[in-house]
Amino acid sequence: MSTQYQKLAERYGKILATYVGGAGEAALQSAYEIGRQAVQAGLGCLDIAQIHEEALIRSLLQASTLGESSKIAKLGSDFLAQSLSPYEMTHRGFQEVILDLSRRAVELATVNRRLETEISERRRVESALQQETSYVKLLNVVTVAANMGSGINDVYRRCLEEVCLITGWPIGHVYIVDEDSPDRLVPTSIWHLAEPKRFEVFRHATESLSLSRGIGLPGRVFSTGESTFIVDLAEDSNFLRAQACSEVGIRSGFAFPILVGSEVVAVLEFFSDLLQKPDEQLLDVMAQIGIQLGRVVERRRSEDVLREIPKRILEAQEAERRRVAHELHDDVCQRLSATKLHIGAFENEIPEKDRKVHSKLQLIKRQINANIQEVRRIAAHLRPTTLDDMGLHVALRLLCEEFQKINHTRANFKMKARSPQRLDPPVELTLYRIAQEGLSNVAKHAEAKTVSMRLMRLNGIIRLDINDNGRGFEIEKIRSDSVRGYKLGLLSMKERAELLNGTCRIESVPGKGTKIRVEIPLESNHTHGKD
Ligand SMILES: Nc1ncnc2c1ncn2[C@@H]1O[C@H](COP(=O)(O)OP(=O)(O)OP(=O)(O)O)[C@@H](O)[C@H]1O
Ligand SMILES: [Mg+2]
Repeated sequence: MSTQYQKLAERYGKILATYVGGAGEAALQSAYEIGRQAVQAGLGCLDIAQIHEEALIRSLLQASTLGESSKIAKLGSDFLAQSLSPYEMTHRGFQEVILDLSRRAVELATVNRRLETEISERRRVESALQQETSYVKLLNVVTVAANMGSGINDVYRRCLEEVCLITGWPIGHVYIVDEDSPDRLVPTSIWHLAEPKRFEVFRHATESLSLSRGIGLPGRVFSTGESTFIVDLAEDSNFLRAQACSEVGIRSGFAFPILVGSEVVAVLEFFSDLLQKPDEQLLDVMAQIGIQLGRVVERRRSEDVLREIPKRILEAQEAERRRVAHELHDDVCQRLSATKLHIGAFENEIPEKDRKVHSKLQLIKRQINANIQEVRRIAAHLRPTTLDDMGLHVALRLLCEEFQKINHTRANFKMKARSPQRLDPPVELTLYRIAQEGLSNVAKHAEAKTVSMRLMRLNGIIRLDINDNGRGFEIEKIRSDSVRGYKLGLLSMKERAELLNGTCRIESVPGKGTKIRVEIPLESNHTHGKD
């Protein structure tokens, strides 16, 4: 028992005794004071009850009558109530504090809930913003790639990479419309595969699957011209690669069209190994990307058409030359020969003595012969039959010999191969036409003493050099005339070479002659033989 308890018990006993003895209000005040001290000392109600009991018994022992004892008991209980009242007060205080605390706890919980909602809303907005920013970035990257001038396949590849990077989807692939059958989609080898080994089975299944309109995921996009999202590929009855997907763990897929106007020209498909929900924003961005890439396809198509134009012009020119050559050879030459025969017949009718007429007729016949030769030469120029019959090296040699004869300028031709093989007709014709124009320029402009022509094959290309030691010219000055269309020879040399993916370089220095080097790759122009 603590000393504090004992002290309080003693005091309690004394004051209770004074109170039952008639001390009144002051003693009750002291009872309250003792109760307060007991609370402070950490004593409980039961301690007070015990102290009270012991003190009351002592007071009751002093009573001599029953009436006196019941009066002491009554006063004692008032005293006890007074001494316990600080406990009640404290208890009430606790209750209030607890009530207050629980009220505040409720308030805090409400504030907390509000904060939580605010935070999660802010997070949602932030992640939506982040996603929007990444979609805008995606659109920018694809737009930049689309305008870089690279091939459409590179643009597709870049697009697959970016979409997979932003969405976290591991697979992207391109289907294109079959050139020979516009109602079918054929798979390409353009992929983005985050784990090539893991998805090998799926790649294989895809690359052996072409699709008609409406069939499979890409086929549906092909027929509707709209994006399609499949949440669970295993549940979709119109998805043909479900088996391969389940083998490698692919769960969701979406695809969107590449559109030129309303025409679908390709379908880009993406796959995820998680079950994904359709993302409207993503599908919107994809629709825009589809239109952007469609413009690239459209531009490439126009460029192809434009690239075809010079080729068509040259083809038409060749066809026309062939036609005129035939006319000259078969018609004009025949008529001249017939005229010569008529003159011969007429000559026979003229008496021998009439020498003046005979010599005039001889002269006319010689002129007709010369004309026939000239027309044949022109016809041969227009359509060099030696080129078809004997090949480029013979045709070039003859060209140089003829040039030398007519222009009195030394022209030598060298071929760096013992047994030159034939090249493809377009390559031979192109080089022949360039050589013709080169020599024609030497004759017209160079005032050269010699011109040399060399033909050689090296490392998959055929090279033709035409060098003269004439007066040369300033290339820059000539270029503006060529652009304006006055002088077309040099320009058409370049165009002809470029049509076969080759080059034609012209170097000229006034007073130092002109060098022309033409190089044409043989591989891309389907050669017949090798060195
Ligand atoms: N071998 C050369 N030597 C000196 N000048 C040349 C030579 N080749 C070309 N040139 C100069 O370059 C110009 C352009 O040549 P190009 O063949 O394009 O036109 P052109 O011969 O004048 O006319 P076209 O070929 O259209 O009938 C010529 O007018 C000439 O001034
Ligand atoms: Mg010319």
